[in-house]
Amino acid sequence: MQARIAVLPGDGIGPEVTREGVKVLQRVAELFGHDFAFEEAMVGGCAIDAAGTPLTDETLEMCRRCDAILLGAVGGPKWSDPNAPVRPEQGLLRLRKAFDLFANLRPVKLSPFLRASSPLRDDLLDGVDLLVVRELTGGLYFGPMHHEGEGRDEQAYDTMLYHAWEVERVVRLACNLAKGRRGWLTSVDKANVLESSRLWRRVTERVMREMETEVELEHLLVDACAMHLLRRPADFDVIVTANLFGDILTDEASMLAGSLGLLPSASIGEGTFGLYEPVHGSAPDIAGQGVANPLATILSAAMLLRHSLGLEAEAQVVEQAVESTLEAGYRTADLGPGRHVSTEEMGRAVVERISV
Ligand code: IPM
Ligand code: MN
Repeated sequence: MQARIAVLPGDGIGPEVTREGVKVLQRVAELFGHDFAFEEAMVGGCAIDAAGTPLTDETLEMCRRCDAILLGAVGGPKWSDPNAPVRPEQGLLRLRKAFDLFANLRPVKLSPFLRASSPLRDDLLDGVDLLVVRELTGGLYFGPMHHEGEGRDEQAYDTMLYHAWEVERVVRLACNLAKGRRGWLTSVDKANVLESSRLWRRVTERVMREMETEVELEHLLVDACAMHLLRRPADFDVIVTANLFGDILTDEASMLAGSLGLLPSASIGEGTFGLYEPVHGSAPDIAGQGVANPLATILSAAMLLRHSLGLEAEAQVVEQAVESTLEAGYRTADLGPGRHVSTEEMGRAVVERISV
């Protein structure tokens, strides 16, 4: 198969981990006889430095010509001044919005070889295998925002605005994913306080009724969900929730797997086009040291193979290669004790284990 993949390494550890993700894709292409073309461009802080904007129109057009995007991370202390008119994160948000990537899939699966990496008690981790579907192009991230005044009168607001159609399409997608899994869908909101959450809940109920599905639905308030994720994580199958709630809950959920450095994500819309990126950020504190964990990016590349290119077997081969790398004892520093290796060594260990 022929595919064109946009590579946007971004800032901080982004370039280091993305490099390993690309090597994995190149190895897959070589081994399975595919023809992958890679086109690289800047996003985030580095693009602000180079072009004055975190995402140029040219980069956006380049991505449009591709089948999928592999992205590293954006942001860093250099661009984090809260008064700055342009911020690295705007580049990422623009990408998500421009391609209407309204669903962000964040699977949390535990490797049997990393049980010791989780700060959670071992007996709580049995059977943990969940998928968070985070709404990605609406809610607090995209509602009207405003700032005015100064001193004690200075004020600002963000708006959690949802339309019924936005809730409908993401719940539908989450329900279909639950069908292919254990058939259990948890919709997370704050309906005891927020009007937008009451809309979310009503629409969710209606969609599930209309879909006439076997999938079972439960509602959970976001604060309770945060607690239950630690108390009984194995009970969750698919969680569907609003943009900000999903952002927060998935950082928390990463601790089940052991490290934020392990969680991949796929941002998808109605078609096959997608944006694939690790859940973690640019980790400026360790950038440039070659110690970052590339596995979240490598697993994101596997999701790219699966969702955007329809290469299920290849995706599984990559996921298995990651497992056997962990089984062999390779660890980056974030994973706790073990044979500590560099970002590049970890990437190479995975590449060596990719086989037909
Ligand atoms: C994430 C990140 C982004 C988000 C930032 C970098 C804008 O935290 O993908 O989880 O909040 O969506
Ligand atoms: Mn986040």
